Amino acid sequence: MHDARYESAVLDLLMSHRSIRAFRDEPVPAGALREILRAAQQASTSSNMQAYSVIRVTDRNLRSELAAVAGQQQYVVTCPEFLVWCADMERLRIAAGLEPSDMSCNAEAFTIAAIDAALAAQNAAVAAESLGFGICYIGAIRNDIAKTAALLGLPPRVAPLFGMCIGRPDQAPLMRPRLPVQAVLHENRYDASAYADAVADYDNAHAAYLKERSGGRQSAGWSEQMRERLTRPPRRIGRFLKEQGFELTD
Ligand SMILES: Cc1cc2nc3c(=O)[nH]c(=O)nc-3n(C[C@H](O)[C@H](O)[C@H](O)COP(=O)(O)O)c2cc1C
Repeated sequence: MHDARYESAVLDLLMSHRSIRAFRDEPVPAGALREILRAAQQASTSSNMQAYSVIRVTDRNLRSELAAVAGQQQYVVTCPEFLVWCADMERLRIAAGLEPSDMSCNAEAFTIAAIDAALAAQNAAVAAESLGFGICYIGAIRNDIAKTAALLGLPPRVAPLFGMCIGRPDQAPLMRPRLPVQAVLHENRYDASAYADAVADYDNAHAAYLKERSGGRQSAGWSEQMRERLTRPPRRIGRFLKEQGFELTD
């Protein structure tokens, strides 16, 4: 499968990722969590702004309230560690000694903060997996983003983006296949001409994956699932972001 000249333990780790949604009832040792967070912090960050914060949620009641926002995904409650990754321009404002009106919190600032948070989180995910833990991102905390922010006591200019469950896996799910690389890689200019074939191939691979995972009960192709996903009413976070001080129209 791999090109034998380009093998590494990191590649093996990245290529074995799968989201974990059932965890053993074992804490993540403090030292392991510290290394995971240090790895997160070492990710690249726009202009060294480090425009994100992480809320470690240890309070069980708070976990239950977040799980309720997240459509009752019970692993939010049962996972040994639950981290909420936030876009954060407020620490920068405080550090720089600025009034809110002195700084820009526009779409670019939000994008920087969201990218910083995602890069740090993915470093944390890979670090955790390298130590034998499993992870699952939880975007569903944005089902009611204002409620999540209130539960976590987030000040203006801080927005919750996604949660992350971490713990020892108590399941070994099948790996979910990805699109063929020619569907996502373009050379010099955007080119959609490879999509039809690539998506057809991927639909077959995805249907086979789902069939195996569900014991034959499901066999939807990826494009069919995406059609359903894209035509559902979306989460609405625009008003919250505006009230939180992010001016996305600018
Ligand atoms: C930002 C983000 C939010 C996600 N939110 C959820 C979620 O709320 N619940 C869940 O079970 N999985 C969630 N996932 C996991 C994805 O469903 C999963 O990564 C994707 O289906 C690919 O599967 P894999 O990670 O097992 O390869 C999320 C992933 C990302 C990146």
